[in-house]
Amino acid sequence: MLVGHQSRVVQAGDFFTAEVAGESLIIVRDKRDAIRGFYNVCRHRGSRLIENRNGQCAAIQCPYHAWTYALDGRLLGTPHMEGVPGFDKAEYSLHPVNVALWEGFIFVNLADSPLPLERWFAPLAEKFSRWNLPCLRSARRIDYDVCANWKLIFQNYSECYHCLGVHPELSKISPHDSSENDLTEGQFLGGFMRIASDKSLTMSGHTCALPVGNFGDQDFRFVFYYSIFPNMLLSLHTDYVMLHQLEPQSPERTLIFCDWFFHSEAFRREDFKPDDAIEFWDMVNKQDWHVCELSQHGISSRAYEPGPYSARESIPAAWDREYLRQLG
Ligand code: FES
Ligand SMILES: [Fe+2]
Repeated sequence: MLVGHQSRVVQAGDFFTAEVAGESLIIVRDKRDAIRGFYNVCRHRGSRLIENRNGQCAAIQCPYHAWTYALDGRLLGTPHMEGVPGFDKAEYSLHPVNVALWEGFIFVNLADSPLPLERWFAPLAEKFSRWNLPCLRSARRIDYDVCANWKLIFQNYSECYHCLGVHPELSKISPHDSSENDLTEGQFLGGFMRIASDKSLTMSGHTCALPVGNFGDQDFRFVFYYSIFPNMLLSLHTDYVMLHQLEPQSPERTLIFCDWFFHSEAFRREDFKPDDAIEFWDMVNKQDWHVCELSQHGISSRAYEPGPYSARESIPAAWDREYLRQLG
Protein backbone atom coordinates (compact mmCIF):
# COMPACT_ATOMS: atom_id res chain seq x y z
CA MET A 1 0.00 0.00 0.00
CA LEU A 2 1.20 3.47 -0.91
CA VAL A 3 1.34 5.73 2.16
CA GLY A 4 2.99 8.87 0.78
CA HIS A 5 5.95 10.47 -0.96
CA GLN A 6 9.36 10.70 0.72
CA SER A 7 9.19 14.51 0.52
CA ARG A 8 6.77 14.32 3.48
CA VAL A 9 9.62 13.18 5.75
CA VAL A 10 12.65 15.25 4.77
CA GLN A 11 14.37 15.82 8.15
CA ALA A 12 15.07 13.38 10.97
CA GLY A 13 11.96 13.38 13.16
CA ASP A 14 9.51 14.31 10.40
CA PHE A 15 6.60 11.89 10.62
CA PHE A 16 3.13 11.21 9.34
CA THR A 17 0.52 8.63 10.19
CA ALA A 18 -1.33 6.44 7.73
CA GLU A 19 -4.20 4.07 8.00
CA VAL A 20 -3.79 0.69 6.33
CA ALA A 21 -6.18 -2.22 6.72
CA GLY A 22 -7.63 -0.75 9.90
CA GLU A 23 -4.19 -0.21 11.44
CA SER A 24 -2.73 3.16 12.30
CA LEU A 25 0.94 3.34 11.28
CA ILE A 26 3.69 5.85 11.97
CA ILE A 27 6.08 6.66 9.13
CA VAL A 28 9.13 8.55 10.34
CA ARG A 29 12.62 9.50 9.20
CA ASP A 30 15.15 8.39 11.79
CA LYS A 31 18.48 9.95 12.75
CA ARG A 32 20.39 7.74 10.31
CA ASP A 33 18.24 9.07 7.46
CA ALA A 34 16.25 5.85 7.07
CA ILE A 35 12.49 5.95 6.60
CA ARG A 36 10.84 3.62 9.10
CA GLY A 37 7.37 2.39 9.80
CA PHE A 38 5.85 1.33 13.13
CA TYR A 39 2.48 0.32 14.42
CA ASN A 40 1.04 3.31 16.27
CA VAL A 41 0.67 1.20 19.41
CA CYS A 42 2.47 1.69 22.72
CA ARG A 43 4.24 -1.40 24.06
CA HIS A 44 2.98 -0.64 27.58
CA ARG A 45 -0.82 -0.63 27.57
CA GLY A 46 -1.39 -0.10 23.90
CA SER A 47 -2.23 3.58 23.68
CA ARG A 48 -2.12 5.31 20.30
CA LEU A 49 1.20 7.12 20.34
CA ILE A 50 0.59 9.79 17.74
CA GLU A 51 -2.79 11.34 17.04
CA ASN A 52 -1.73 13.97 14.47
CA ARG A 53 -1.74 13.29 10.78
CA ASN A 54 1.83 14.67 10.56
CA GLY A 55 4.50 16.61 12.44
CA GLN A 56 8.04 16.72 13.79
CA CYS A 57 9.41 15.09 16.93
CA ALA A 58 12.77 14.32 18.54
CA ALA A 59 11.40 11.06 19.95
CA ILE A 60 8.03 9.33 20.12
CA GLN A 61 6.46 9.76 23.52
CA CYS A 62 3.31 7.99 24.62
CA PRO A 63 0.63 10.42 25.82
CA TYR A 64 -0.55 7.94 28.49
CA HIS A 65 2.36 7.11 30.84
CA ALA A 66 5.15 8.78 28.88
CA TRP A 67 7.13 5.79 27.69
CA THR A 68 9.50 7.24 25.13
CA TYR A 69 10.79 5.62 21.96
CA ALA A 70 13.69 6.62 19.71
CA LEU A 71 12.96 7.38 16.05
CA ASP A 72 14.29 3.91 15.21
CA GLY A 73 11.73 2.33 17.53
CA ARG A 74 13.94 1.49 20.53
CA LEU A 75 12.33 2.02 23.90
CA LEU A 76 14.40 4.64 25.73
CA GLY A 77 12.50 6.05 28.68
CA THR A 78 10.16 4.24 31.05
CA PRO A 79 9.30 6.30 34.15
CA HIS A 80 9.05 4.29 37.39
CA MET A 81 9.74 0.94 35.76
CA GLU A 82 13.06 0.38 37.54
CA GLY A 83 12.79 -2.59 39.86
CA VAL A 84 10.03 -4.31 37.84
CA PRO A 85 11.24 -7.92 37.88
CA GLY A 86 12.41 -9.23 34.52
CA PHE A 87 11.64 -6.01 32.64
CA ASP A 88 14.11 -5.34 29.86
CA LYS A 89 13.58 -2.27 27.68
CA ALA A 90 15.32 -3.99 24.77
CA GLU A 91 12.34 -6.35 24.47
CA TYR A 92 9.83 -3.54 24.03
CA SER A 93 10.78 -1.71 20.85
CA LEU A 94 7.91 -0.49 18.70
CA HIS A 95 6.50 -3.14 16.41
CA PRO A 96 8.04 -2.44 13.00
CA VAL A 97 6.25 -2.41 9.66
CA ASN A 98 7.86 -3.35 6.34
CA VAL A 99 8.65 -0.16 4.46
CA ALA A 100 10.16 0.18 1.00
CA LEU A 101 10.51 2.87 -1.62
CA TRP A 102 9.71 2.95 -5.30
CA GLU A 103 10.52 6.13 -7.27
CA GLY A 104 10.44 8.16 -4.05
CA PHE A 105 7.06 6.83 -2.98
CA ILE A 106 6.81 5.03 0.36
CA PHE A 107 5.00 1.70 0.51
CA VAL A 108 4.17 -0.52 3.45
CA ASN A 109 3.32 -4.18 3.59
CA LEU A 110 1.81 -5.75 6.71
CA ALA A 111 2.61 -9.32 5.66
CA ASP A 112 5.13 -11.27 7.76
CA SER A 113 7.38 -12.01 4.81
CA PRO A 114 6.38 -9.72 1.97
CA LEU A 115 7.46 -9.93 -1.63
CA PRO A 116 10.35 -7.45 -2.05
CA LEU A 117 8.98 -4.21 -3.49
CA GLU A 118 11.47 -4.19 -6.37
CA ARG A 119 10.08 -7.54 -7.51
CA TRP A 120 6.51 -6.19 -7.42
CA PHE A 121 7.59 -3.12 -9.39
CA ALA A 122 9.91 -4.98 -11.78
CA PRO A 123 7.51 -4.51 -14.75
CA LEU A 124 7.85 -0.73 -14.35
CA ALA A 125 11.64 -0.59 -13.99
CA GLU A 126 12.90 2.66 -15.59
CA LYS A 127 9.53 3.34 -17.18
CA PHE A 128 9.00 6.63 -15.36
CA SER A 129 12.60 7.69 -14.76
CA ARG A 130 12.35 10.75 -17.02
CA TRP A 131 9.84 12.32 -14.61
CA ASN A 132 12.39 12.47 -11.73
CA LEU A 133 9.70 11.31 -9.32
CA PRO A 134 11.95 10.90 -6.25
CA CYS A 135 13.00 14.59 -6.42
CA LEU A 136 9.60 16.22 -6.88
CA ARG A 137 7.78 18.24 -4.23
CA SER A 138 4.09 18.59 -3.64
CA ALA A 139 2.66 22.11 -3.95
CA ARG A 140 -0.70 21.15 -2.52
CA ARG A 141 -2.72 18.26 -1.26
CA ILE A 142 -6.51 18.12 -1.33
CA ASP A 143 -8.37 15.46 0.62
CA TYR A 144 -11.64 14.21 -0.80
CA ASP A 145 -14.20 12.20 1.13
CA VAL A 146 -16.10 10.20 -1.47
CA CYS A 147 -19.20 8.10 -0.82
CA ALA A 148 -18.19 5.30 -3.15
CA ASN A 149 -16.35 2.00 -2.95
CA TRP A 150 -12.64 2.30 -3.75
CA LYS A 151 -12.95 -0.06 -6.72
CA LEU A 152 -15.35 2.33 -8.43
CA ILE A 153 -12.65 5.01 -8.23
CA PHE A 154 -10.20 2.70 -10.01
CA GLN A 155 -12.71 1.79 -12.68
CA ASN A 156 -13.57 5.44 -13.23
CA TYR A 157 -9.88 6.37 -13.59
CA SER A 158 -9.34 3.59 -16.09
CA GLU A 159 -11.50 4.76 -18.96
CA CYS A 160 -12.32 7.93 -20.85
CA TYR A 161 -15.58 6.63 -22.26
CA HIS A 162 -17.22 9.02 -19.78
CA CYS A 163 -15.01 12.00 -20.56
CA LEU A 164 -16.99 13.78 -23.27
CA GLY A 165 -20.11 14.05 -21.12
CA VAL A 166 -18.57 14.30 -17.66
CA HIS A 167 -15.45 16.39 -18.43
CA PRO A 168 -16.22 18.90 -21.18
CA GLU A 169 -13.26 21.13 -20.17
CA LEU A 170 -10.82 18.20 -20.16
CA SER A 171 -12.10 16.92 -23.49
CA LYS A 172 -11.38 20.27 -25.15
CA ILE A 173 -7.65 19.95 -24.46
CA SER A 174 -7.30 16.16 -24.54
CA PRO A 175 -9.60 14.36 -27.01
CA HIS A 176 -11.65 11.77 -25.16
CA ASP A 177 -11.04 9.14 -27.86
CA SER A 178 -7.25 9.58 -28.08
CA SER A 179 -6.23 7.05 -25.46
CA GLU A 180 -3.76 4.27 -26.14
CA ASN A 181 -2.84 1.71 -23.54
CA ASP A 182 0.59 0.19 -23.11
CA LEU A 183 0.02 -1.71 -19.86
CA THR A 184 -3.01 -3.86 -20.43
CA GLU A 185 -2.85 -6.74 -17.96
CA GLY A 186 -1.68 -7.13 -14.38
CA GLN A 187 -1.23 -4.89 -11.35
CA PHE A 188 -0.16 -1.86 -13.41
CA LEU A 189 -2.58 -0.64 -16.05
CA GLY A 190 -2.90 2.36 -18.28
CA GLY A 191 -1.38 4.34 -21.09
CA PHE A 192 -1.48 7.80 -22.59
CA MET A 193 -3.77 10.33 -24.16
CA ARG A 194 -3.01 13.11 -26.59
CA ILE A 195 -3.13 16.74 -25.70
CA ALA A 196 -3.41 19.54 -28.23
CA SER A 197 0.07 20.80 -29.11
CA ASP A 198 1.41 23.62 -26.90
CA LYS A 199 -1.33 22.91 -24.39
CA SER A 200 -1.26 21.70 -20.83
CA LEU A 201 -4.05 20.38 -18.64
CA THR A 202 -4.55 23.59 -16.68
CA MET A 203 -7.32 26.17 -16.35
CA SER A 204 -5.56 28.51 -18.77
CA GLY A 205 -4.49 25.71 -21.08
CA HIS A 206 -0.87 26.87 -20.75
CA THR A 207 1.99 25.08 -19.09
CA CYS A 208 2.19 26.07 -15.41
CA ALA A 209 5.73 25.21 -14.31
CA LEU A 210 9.24 24.21 -15.28
CA PRO A 211 9.18 20.71 -16.82
CA VAL A 212 9.64 18.07 -14.12
CA GLY A 213 12.15 16.13 -16.22
CA ASN A 214 14.12 15.97 -19.45
CA PHE A 215 11.58 15.27 -22.10
CA GLY A 216 11.67 14.70 -25.81
CA ASP A 217 9.26 16.65 -28.07
CA GLN A 218 6.89 13.69 -28.17
CA ASP A 219 6.35 13.75 -24.41
CA PHE A 220 4.76 17.20 -24.61
CA ARG A 221 1.95 15.82 -26.76
CA PHE A 222 0.83 13.21 -24.26
CA VAL A 223 -0.44 12.74 -20.75
CA PHE A 224 0.23 9.40 -19.09
CA TYR A 225 -2.22 7.76 -16.73
CA TYR A 226 -1.47 4.62 -14.75
CA SER A 227 -3.31 2.79 -12.02
CA ILE A 228 -1.05 0.99 -9.58
CA PHE A 229 -2.81 -1.71 -7.62
CA PRO A 230 -4.19 -1.39 -4.98
CA ASN A 231 -4.33 2.29 -3.96
CA MET A 232 -2.32 4.54 -6.28
CA LEU A 233 -3.22 6.50 -9.39
CA LEU A 234 -0.35 8.27 -11.13
CA SER A 235 -0.95 10.94 -13.76
CA LEU A 236 2.21 12.12 -15.45
CA HIS A 237 2.33 15.48 -17.19
CA THR A 238 5.43 17.29 -18.35
CA ASP A 239 4.94 20.24 -15.98
CA TYR A 240 3.54 18.35 -12.98
CA VAL A 241 2.67 14.93 -11.65
CA MET A 242 -0.66 14.28 -9.99
CA LEU A 243 -1.03 11.51 -7.45
CA HIS A 244 -4.20 10.03 -6.03
CA GLN A 245 -3.78 7.91 -2.91
CA LEU A 246 -6.84 5.95 -1.83
CA GLU A 247 -7.67 5.05 1.73
CA PRO A 248 -10.86 2.96 1.87
CA GLN A 249 -12.90 3.75 4.99
CA SER A 250 -15.76 1.33 4.48
CA PRO A 251 -17.36 -0.53 1.57
CA GLU A 252 -19.20 2.69 0.64
CA ARG A 253 -16.67 5.38 1.51
CA THR A 254 -13.14 6.25 0.34
CA LEU A 255 -10.78 9.00 1.36
CA ILE A 256 -8.72 10.22 -1.58
CA PHE A 257 -5.60 12.30 -1.05
CA CYS A 258 -4.62 14.15 -4.18
CA ASP A 259 -1.18 15.77 -4.52
CA TRP A 260 0.31 17.91 -7.26
CA PHE A 261 4.07 17.46 -7.54
CA PHE A 262 6.44 19.87 -9.23
CA HIS A 263 10.15 20.20 -9.92
CA SER A 264 11.75 21.52 -6.73
CA GLU A 265 13.33 24.38 -8.74
CA ALA A 266 9.96 25.36 -10.15
CA PHE A 267 8.83 26.82 -6.81
CA ARG A 268 11.36 29.66 -7.05
CA ARG A 269 10.47 30.78 -10.56
CA GLU A 270 8.21 33.52 -11.90
CA ASP A 271 6.43 31.12 -14.24
CA PHE A 272 5.29 28.87 -11.38
CA LYS A 273 1.48 28.79 -11.39
CA PRO A 274 0.52 25.60 -9.56
CA ASP A 275 -3.07 26.74 -9.00
CA ASP A 276 -3.59 26.65 -12.75
CA ALA A 277 -3.20 22.85 -12.65
CA ILE A 278 -4.68 22.31 -9.19
CA GLU A 279 -7.93 24.17 -9.93
CA PHE A 280 -8.30 22.33 -13.20
CA TRP A 281 -7.98 18.90 -11.64
CA ASP A 282 -9.95 19.80 -8.56
CA MET A 283 -12.82 20.50 -10.95
CA VAL A 284 -12.24 17.27 -12.92
CA ASN A 285 -11.80 15.24 -9.71
CA LYS A 286 -15.15 16.45 -8.38
CA GLN A 287 -16.82 15.61 -11.68
CA ASP A 288 -15.42 12.09 -11.31
CA TRP A 289 -16.34 11.65 -7.65
CA HIS A 290 -19.89 12.71 -8.47
CA VAL A 291 -20.39 9.96 -11.05
CA CYS A 292 -18.66 7.43 -8.76
CA GLU A 293 -21.18 8.32 -6.04
CA LEU A 294 -24.05 8.01 -8.52
CA SER A 295 -22.70 4.61 -9.49
CA GLN A 296 -22.42 3.57 -5.83
CA HIS A 297 -26.09 4.43 -5.36
CA GLY A 298 -27.15 2.42 -8.40
CA ILE A 299 -25.12 -0.71 -7.76
CA SER A 300 -26.59 -0.87 -4.25
CA SER A 301 -30.02 -1.38 -5.79
CA ARG A 302 -31.60 -4.82 -5.85
CA ALA A 303 -32.40 -4.13 -9.51
CA TYR A 304 -28.75 -3.77 -10.51
CA GLU A 305 -26.79 -6.36 -12.40
CA PRO A 306 -23.59 -5.44 -14.25
CA GLY A 307 -24.05 -4.48 -17.91
CA PRO A 308 -21.46 -5.17 -20.61
CA TYR A 309 -18.31 -3.10 -20.99
CA SER A 310 -17.70 -1.21 -24.24
CA ALA A 311 -14.52 -1.51 -26.30
CA ARG A 312 -13.39 1.72 -24.57
CA GLU A 313 -13.46 -0.05 -21.21
CA SER A 314 -10.79 -2.66 -21.80
CA ILE A 315 -8.74 -1.33 -18.86
CA PRO A 316 -11.58 -1.51 -16.32
CA ALA A 317 -12.15 -5.08 -17.55
CA ALA A 318 -8.45 -5.89 -17.09
CA TRP A 319 -8.56 -4.26 -13.67
CA ASP A 320 -11.51 -6.47 -12.67
CA ARG A 321 -9.54 -9.55 -13.76
CA GLU A 322 -6.52 -8.45 -11.72
CA TYR A 323 -8.67 -7.81 -8.67
CA LEU A 324 -10.11 -11.32 -8.91
CA ARG A 325 -6.60 -12.76 -9.34
CA GLN A 326 -5.44 -10.92 -6.21
CA LEU A 327 -8.35 -12.38 -4.30
CA GLY A 328 -7.15 -15.79 -5.45
S1 FES B 1 0.18 3.03 27.39
FE1 FES B 1 1.93 4.04 26.65
S2 FES B 1 3.06 4.51 28.39
FE2 FES B 1 1.35 3.47 29.17
FE1 LIG C 1 -13.04 11.08 -15.28
